Amino acid sequence: MSGNGQHGFGRVPRKEDARFIRGQGNYVDDIKLPGMLYGAVLRSPHAHARLVSVDTAAAEAHPQVRAVITGETLAGLDLAWMPTLSGDVQAVLATDKVRFQGQEVAFVVADSHYAARDALELIDVDYEALPPVIDARTALDDGAPVIRDDLEGRGDNHIFDWEAGDAAATDRVFDGAEVVVAQDVLYPRVHPAPLETCGIVADMDKVTGKLTVHTTTQAPHAHRTVYALVAGLPEHKIRVVSPDIGGGFGNKVGIYPGYVCAIVGSIVTGRPVKWMEDRSENLMTTSFARDYHMRGEIAATRDGRVRGLRVTVLADHGAFNGTAQPTKFPAGFFHVFTGSYDIEAAHCAVTGVYTNKAPGGVAYACSFRITEAAYLVERMMDMLAAELDLDPAELRLRNLLRAEQFPYSTATGWEYDSGDYPRTLRKALDIAGYDKLRAEQADRRERGELMGIGISFFTEAVGAGPRKHMDILGLGMADGAELRVHPTGKAVLRISVQTQGQGHETTFAQIVAHELGIPVDDVEVVHGDTDQTPFGLGTYGSRSTPVSGAATAVVARKVRERARIVAGAMLEAAPGDLEWTPGRWTVRGDPSSGATMQEIAMAAHGSLELPDGVEGHLDATTVYNPPNLTYPFGAYIAVVDVDPGTGKVAVRRFVAVDDCGVRINPMIVEGQVHGGLADGVGMALMQVMAFDEDGNHLGASFMDYLLPTSMECPSWELGETVTPSPHHPLGAKGVGESATVGSPAAIVNAVVDALAPYGVRHADMPLTPANVWRVIQGRPFRT
Ligand code: CDP
Repeated sequence: MSGNGQHGFGRVPRKEDARFIRGQGNYVDDIKLPGMLYGAVLRSPHAHARLVSVDTAAAEAHPQVRAVITGETLAGLDLAWMPTLSGDVQAVLATDKVRFQGQEVAFVVADSHYAARDALELIDVDYEALPPVIDARTALDDGAPVIRDDLEGRGDNHIFDWEAGDAAATDRVFDGAEVVVAQDVLYPRVHPAPLETCGIVADMDKVTGKLTVHTTTQAPHAHRTVYALVAGLPEHKIRVVSPDIGGGFGNKVGIYPGYVCAIVGSIVTGRPVKWMEDRSENLMTTSFARDYHMRGEIAATRDGRVRGLRVTVLADHGAFNGTAQPTKFPAGFFHVFTGSYDIEAAHCAVTGVYTNKAPGGVAYACSFRITEAAYLVERMMDMLAAELDLDPAELRLRNLLRAEQFPYSTATGWEYDSGDYPRTLRKALDIAGYDKLRAEQADRRERGELMGIGISFFTEAVGAGPRKHMDILGLGMADGAELRVHPTGKAVLRISVQTQGQGHETTFAQIVAHELGIPVDDVEVVHGDTDQTPFGLGTYGSRSTPVSGAATAVVARKVRERARIVAGAMLEAAPGDLEWTPGRWTVRGDPSSGATMQEIAMAAHGSLELPDGVEGHLDATTVYNPPNLTYPFGAYIAVVDVDPGTGKVAVRRFVAVDDCGVRINPMIVEGQVHGGLADGVGMALMQVMAFDEDGNHLGASFMDYLLPTSMECPSWELGETVTPSPHHPLGAKGVGESATVGSPAAIVNAVVDALAPYGVRHADMPLTPANVWRVIQGRPFRT
């Protein structure tokens, strides 16, 4: 069958596209409530300054202004500071100092968006400028200005030290190593930059005492709990609704000061308040990603056997530690940095520091710092290949984990669930026609042309929990699912995760359809509303399919088992004598005697006499606590041409072979991979959140912070291998972020390979024309 009549997995067209392609999506900014007011945030022009005074009298006198809220107002409500996802506190509105350019200083509520913006200009703020810390490498210098003097006893900008692996064993491997290669590698500060910026419509109903917020959140239940804890309201008096979301990529995990201000604005005025940030606000003040200054060392034998990895990281977390990752892991999952290789010993040490930049450090389309880790190890592998004069594909094939090594325990404490890495790399090499490409490259080099071929192989770790190891702010990382089956066999699935464009309304319906043997069209997926869905931690780190997808399979199986009991009563057979053929329970040995799921659902709601212990109806609920993460992986190959005159890089080809276990909807998986590959082009070649020495943000619009378009992207060449996850009920692994994790290294490796005739071994992202040109300058070309 084709289309949504299909009963399970396959290329089912996306249900949600019917409204999206007609322009009928319903985003936060589409929500208009009766009597709604509009909020705007006054922001600091300084990166670091003492707040001397905030005079709001003129703004308050503006005829359309309904309220002006300052840090002082919030301090009176004990709301001037809020918890971050990393156990730090962040100023909602500044009371003592401003600590990054764009920091929130005051909030105006007015009759219209424009009046609110106009009134911001009437607020008079007196600042006393302080010297800022902009370069993380100077943050711990003696005498560096202390940014967080609000924290008791704080005399420096140090946040945390964290390590993983066995330092002594790693040192021993390095001491005895035949070859060691070391390199400083920067993963620059970038931004998730979703097309829809962040916003909220807060509505405090004074009659019912219930607060309803429509907001751009990837984790509605977690947000509700945080609001409950901060505001002291019970959870049942807070409803968080996340309508259609125009991209999240980690940017919509945290709670931003504007959300809190809009809620306070609604409480103060008694009317709904909308706050929607503009593009510059989104780029300047909401969660950035990466900003890791890494030093990698790799130890190997002369014949290319990798033995050890040693890494130190200086992590720039901005002015408040607002990173998002499970509590026990201040550097996220960075310690997955041994990547896809069988490595004897490894160790990493990460130090986090405050700087006068926006807070964040979110998992931009990756599972908590895995992009940084994958990028580092893949750069180190290429540098080692160059040192050993070995083909980078060959070096990888000598070290990749083989099928028989799974489940595989890494030197830094992970247990990879399943894989056959050489098979996946070989497939990518075949699709690319690798040997021919190398021959072409040799020819071109003879002619002075710069062609590069870059490989990366990545392993992701997605689907956080398990809850005993992973929580955010004490909330265990598990997810609930509820499945209701109506008398006619139509089903409603309620889940705790929240799509931001990944197509959950389709794929989660497919999971139910697959398990119950009913049409995909007969399953409605409800999500993004805490009043209507079970508790769970939401969507980020590609956790939806590994956790909530598993919950969906489990709850559907519960329904199926209940249906078996009802079918037994219908068919006058013992439930144990029935067997499942998709969509039907039949009497074993007599396929003509059976009942479809629709017939069973009707019977369950009817007058049929049911055995003791069965109440009727088929509905079920579950909470899924994953036993392990799932480990998708992939082999990527980029082919680039570099113009030696301008430094401009063109990505000519890109081959991506992904293995995400069983694919629920291969078309959606491919779409996810396409998007992530484009992200990789952006990060590798175009993007950096840059600052001048005073802390002025230099990329606060899409004129400066560039998004990749189809012009910069080749026609992606995709392939797949399928290694099911042994512990996921469907054998599926997450995939939403794989391509963002794996692609930057392939492109950078390709550019460095193109520049090899100049003796280049490494160049930091972004490889803009200007940066590439600078790398080439003054170096003689040698074939
Ligand atoms: O958490 P997030 O939705 O961002 O990531 P994901 O779980 O990897 O899923 C992204 C999309 O791809 C969802 O619609 C999934 O159901 C779909 N998918 C799939 O069809 N098969 C897989 N093995 C993994 C994901």
